[in-house]
Amino acid sequence: MPRDATPRRYLMCPPAHFKVTYSINPWMDPAKPVDLPLALAQWEDLRDRYRSLGHTVELLEPQEELPDMVFAANGATVIDGRVLGARFAHEERTAEADAHLDWFRANGFTEIHEPAHINEGEGDFAVTASYLLAGRGFRSSPLSHAEAQEFFGRPVIGLDLVDPRYYHLDTALCVLDDAADEVMYYPGAFSPGSRSVLARLFPDALIAQEQDAAEFGLNAVSDGSHVLLPLAAVGLFEPLRERGFEPVGMDLSELLKGGGSVKCCTQELRTGWGAAPEGRGA
Ligand code: ARG
Repeated sequence: MPRDATPRRYLMCPPAHFKVTYSINPWMDPAKPVDLPLALAQWEDLRDRYRSLGHTVELLEPQEELPDMVFAANGATVIDGRVLGARFAHEERTAEADAHLDWFRANGFTEIHEPAHINEGEGDFAVTASYLLAGRGFRSSPLSHAEAQEFFGRPVIGLDLVDPRYYHLDTALCVLDDAADEVMYYPGAFSPGSRSVLARLFPDALIAQEQDAAEFGLNAVSDGSHVLLPLAAVGLFEPLRERGFEPVGMDLSELLKGGGSVKCCTQELRTGWGAAPEGRGA
């Protein structure tokens, strides 16, 4: 079956100051050097790919003292133009939350909620047609789930992450079609109970194998037709094609040294304003 892409708005932050100087997830090894020009080139490739697919990419100003800012997905969650700010679990990233809030205020967003509880934005929140899926276990507090449900008025499904390599929900699950409830995920990242919940809600999900999950293959972004995902997650390409999606392999190997890939670099602005609203957008 052929798929329809819908134009999206994304918020991204260039990795101008990206480095790995601390370790807050198992992928980060400060002893491993980062090739900054390569990281920038890989990130620009992703940004340009979105634009060539007809999407709007907005940019956040990188800050020198915030090396993880490139992982813009963590800075907020936006649904119907309503912005739930982030509150980071680790001190090293705390200041990113305000940088995002400032951007939203400067760009015409008025319905903004500053959270009381720790949540790392779209790192742990994923939007499907019916639900707001919400990860917990490593970063976002379970209390943030109720806070998000109240703010967005969408039923939150809490999911327990149990493998430290998959510390954010977006490292283990990707929404393929947000007009329906179609997802792909790696069951091994979740507790037995959460696996049962996922099987119940998404009986037709694309189930990823361990080796593709380990290549960050679930850290993908779909516009309903194109699925941008790490090039190395080779096992996912054919199953995606069989479902009518067009996999687009991206090389973000330098950013993987920070524990992130395609989705981590991409915050979706669900504004309902379309790709190029008048007076807005880049
Ligand atoms: N180094 C960052 C951290 O550990 C990576 C964040 C990745 N982002 C994501 N959406 N999974 O916080």
